[in-house]
Amino acid sequence: MNNLIYSPSPERYSGGMQYRRCGRSGILLPEVSLGLWHNFGDVNTLSNAQAMAHYAFDRGITHFDLANNYGPSPGSAEETFGLIMKKSFMPYRDELFISTKAGHPMWPGPYGDWGSRKSLMASLDQSLKRMNLDYVDIFYTHRYDPETPLEETLQALVDIVRRGKALYVGLSKYPADKAAFAYRYLAERDVHCLLYQGRYNLFNREPEAQGILRQARENGTGFIAFSPLAQGLLTDRYLNGIPEDSRIARGGFLKKEALTADVLAKVEALNALALRRGQTLAEMSLAWLLKDEAVTSVIVGASSVGQLADNLKALEQTTFAADELEEIEKILRM
Ligand SMILES: NC(=O)c1ccc[n+]([C@@H]2O[C@H](COP(=O)([O-])OP(=O)(O)OC[C@H]3O[C@@H](n4cnc5c(N)ncnc54)[C@H](OP(=O)(O)O)[C@@H]3O)[C@@H](O)[C@H]2O)c1
Repeated sequence: MNNLIYSPSPERYSGGMQYRRCGRSGILLPEVSLGLWHNFGDVNTLSNAQAMAHYAFDRGITHFDLANNYGPSPGSAEETFGLIMKKSFMPYRDELFISTKAGHPMWPGPYGDWGSRKSLMASLDQSLKRMNLDYVDIFYTHRYDPETPLEETLQALVDIVRRGKALYVGLSKYPADKAAFAYRYLAERDVHCLLYQGRYNLFNREPEAQGILRQARENGTGFIAFSPLAQGLLTDRYLNGIPEDSRIARGGFLKKEALTADVLAKVEALNALALRRGQTLAEMSLAWLLKDEAVTSVIVGASSVGQLADNLKALEQTTFAADELEEIEKILRM
């Protein structure tokens, strides 16, 4: 503790961050959470990762979202976060809500992937070590595993809670019928499913279309949106070509092919509307999600403190006039 490099802002809870109740639970989450999927790996600079984490906490972001495989390389985002815990956040552990997940490829062989009890239990133990934590606040099954009996995956979640390794559990990207089964299974064992984590943004309306949002609300489960900026497409990042330091240029999950003429035309039109509202496109895209009370929080990614600062400005204006909402729908139908 003597070598701490950081002391948080005393203003962190009075700077405008709002907290929303997470379904039917005692937990409040910040409207904006920070995700560590990209930009916190061992390919990134530690000083930038630290700066973003510190800035986030200083601005009232109490929720940090991780997974076993975040990096690159897999595991390295948790290692970076573990270092930040040790050097900066340890005295504030009880002010933090930290998640991790397992279910995507993590280590070689038959047990480093998907949803077996073996895989989930081993993965969480590894994650705790990497992050220098005794427990996580929420542990997710990262994706539905069609080959493993769902009862096995869910019972592992129940036992993880019973062992005190996670306080809460959640589902990520589960189809609606599997989520319904999971909500019931967990509730029958007195483990409430705290959160459903799904991809939701102006370009991807699946949680509305597939009834996931409604289902979560009815179950008293919070909904947390990932990739709320469509990995950067719903910002001004690509309006004038592909910047060298951008996610597309770095060649990861977001491919150049995603930036079609049609997408670019929509981004330009949305950007014009955002500017008329006095917002950047990133701010408007986040505000559009947060206008709905069913969305507990949006997990943003950011590659700089500047982007994170911009994203937090979304909170200053989360209401929309009816004609703005109509215009958005018209643009998306273009
Ligand atoms: N459960 C799951 O399966 C799952 C899947 C994916 C993500 N997630 C979670 O959701 C988090 C967020 O996902 P995401 O990183 O795809 O989120 P995102 O917020 O949609 O995209 C983040 C990227 O957008 C760009 N950006 C962010 N703010 C900007 C701004 N104000 N102006 C211009 N560009 C901006 C940056 O791109 P550049 O890097 O180009 O600067 C940044 O890396 C992840 O970290 C992870 O925690 C979960």
